[in-house]
Amino acid sequence: MIRPVRIWMEGREHRLRDLAAAPFRRPAGGRLEIEIGFGKGRFLLAQAMARPETTFLGIETALPYWRITNERAARRGLRNLITVCGDALYLLAACLDPASADAVHVYFPDPWPKVRHRKRRLFDAATVDLVVGVLAPGGVLFFATDHADYGAAVEEVLAGYPMTAVRRVEGRWPDGARTNYEAKYEREGRPILRLEVRRLAAAGAALLHPDGRVAVTAGCAPPRPLLGGADAAVE
Ligand SMILES: C[S@@+](CC[C@H](N)C(=O)[O-])C[C@H]1O[C@@H](n2cnc3c(N)ncnc32)[C@H](O)[C@@H]1O
Repeated sequence: MIRPVRIWMEGREHRLRDLAAAPFRRPAGGRLEIEIGFGKGRFLLAQAMARPETTFLGIETALPYWRITNERAARRGLRNLITVCGDALYLLAACLDPASADAVHVYFPDPWPKVRHRKRRLFDAATVDLVVGVLAPGGVLFFATDHADYGAAVEEVLAGYPMTAVRRVEGRWPDGARTNYEAKYEREGRPILRLEVRRLAAAGAALLHPDGRVAVTAGCAPPRPLLGGADAAVE
């Protein structure tokens, strides 16, 4: 099923094709942070409120969550937050500049345990380039999961990625539970794996699996240049 990518920015909804300029660029001289799978937006909204000088881009496939978050952002008058309803892998592959984000946040991503769904994983060997590749040199990926097996697999993929430094965060984040899932799992006493992964590579360094971008966009509308008016996500 193909559905249009929806974008919320500056207090209202847009379609990508209606925007004169691609909205996902890191602002000149500013910071860009991305959250993938933001759920009801607890972390994204709190961060956008607390750090108005940083642009936050949230990507979420679930339309109801996207709408709830936009309503909350509108009530708070946030102007430094862009939310996109669409598939993160597609957006990373087709719409975002490599090496353009200062931080990427991924908290409690769906683990896709069935083998036939593995290609949807953000940290599969074939897709990890898209996630790590969007980080600027020195940029940091923050990751958390309560799935021990999935967490171990993600840690292994990231530890094997050239020019990254992977660190397990012992205990909680310094700012406490960041998302609704994290708060719930902490209350339940579930073990949580938290990782901080710094990208050391210079921009433009060779990708580990350059076919990942092609694989993700294959089957979508014809390949487009980065930031070039993409308006469809495949589910
Ligand atoms: C388990 S929930 C975690 C939500 C939130 N991060 C939290 O910790 O409370 C996973 C979220 O990721 C979203 N999601 C799953 N696959 C996605 C994708 N490919 N792109 C963007 N969001 C995705 C789901 O809709 C869901 O809201």
